[in-house]
Amino acid sequence: MSHGTSPPRTSFHILGIVGTGAMGRGIAQIAAQAGLTVYLHDLRAGAVDEARDFIAGMWQRGVHKQRLSEADAERYRASLKEAASLTDLAECDIVVEAIVEKLEAKQSLFTELEKILGDQAVLATNTSSLSVTAIASACRRPERVIGFHFFNPVPLMKIVEVIPGLRTSAHVADDVEALGRAMGHFTARTTDTPGFLVNHAGRAYGTEALRILGESVADPATIDRIMVDQGGFRMGPFALLDLTGLDVSHAVMESIYHQYYEEPRFRPSPITRQRLTAGLLGRKSGEGFYRYVDGKPQVDE
Ligand code: NAI
Repeated sequence: MSHGTSPPRTSFHILGIVGTGAMGRGIAQIAAQAGLTVYLHDLRAGAVDEARDFIAGMWQRGVHKQRLSEADAERYRASLKEAASLTDLAECDIVVEAIVEKLEAKQSLFTELEKILGDQAVLATNTSSLSVTAIASACRRPERVIGFHFFNPVPLMKIVEVIPGLRTSAHVADDVEALGRAMGHFTARTTDTPGFLVNHAGRAYGTEALRILGESVADPATIDRIMVDQGGFRMGPFALLDLTGLDVSHAVMESIYHQYYEEPRFRPSPITRQRLTAGLLGRKSGEGFYRYVDGKPQVDE
């Protein structure tokens, strides 16, 4: 892990985000704060406006709390632009994708982007668990594809994994690491292995908690409380699953399990598969292991 004491420079000036959900909007926020021009693109109509409103709301709160000047908030707001189609990303020198956690979707997006962007542009994936090398294998320029994996919520979780694939060039990795630092994050350079560092280590936390639940040892709120109060974790495993969203978490569990050739210790839980089928995704659907009212979990004391 490395970080500098003075704000490091970045060679990137125009950054594109594809997928403006929970992660894309957070990455856009910190990129704008680092002085970059940010183009936002999403498949769903209205998603970019929602993301811009959300980010502007975060800055407005900063102004109210006197952590940010009105002039800075206005400058940041002006640096967020909509890319109505992928071709509007043509000038970007880096595009970070935060779309669905599916290999084919990410590969097809990057092959499309390669036709649009300049030869020197970097394609970065925020994948939680997919192989960066496999995503890059569909590309004409795999040396310019890299993993750039942030955590939720991005502005608060000040760490990012920088994951070169097997064919990523060393200077691309250095440039992207410098960008991560310029965005105010600690950077952890990891190898391209299933789940990288954090989601590999995190398997024990999530899947074991699901086994405990599956054996009816205790309910989610009790397990979470023990892990926070006694285990010293900032968030219990079920609160974390709700924050991440089961659509993402279950996909990550399955991906890591299969990449390790069905190694039993990574086996996903039938509990998450069933709850996913029922649409109990977590905060984003209003109910997961907890129910949410105005974004706040309802926990019986
Ligand atoms: P999300 O569901 O909140 O947002 C995904 C967005 O991508 C949606 O707005 C959707 O309309 C858009 N989208 C889907 N396919 C698209 C396409 N082909 N082109 C353009 N837009 C498209 O998902 P979230 O949670 O932001 O996750 C996104 C990625 O980030 C996934 O790869 C996930 O594994 C990864 N990630 C998620 C974390 C989390 O805690 N939620 C943490 C770290 C990484």
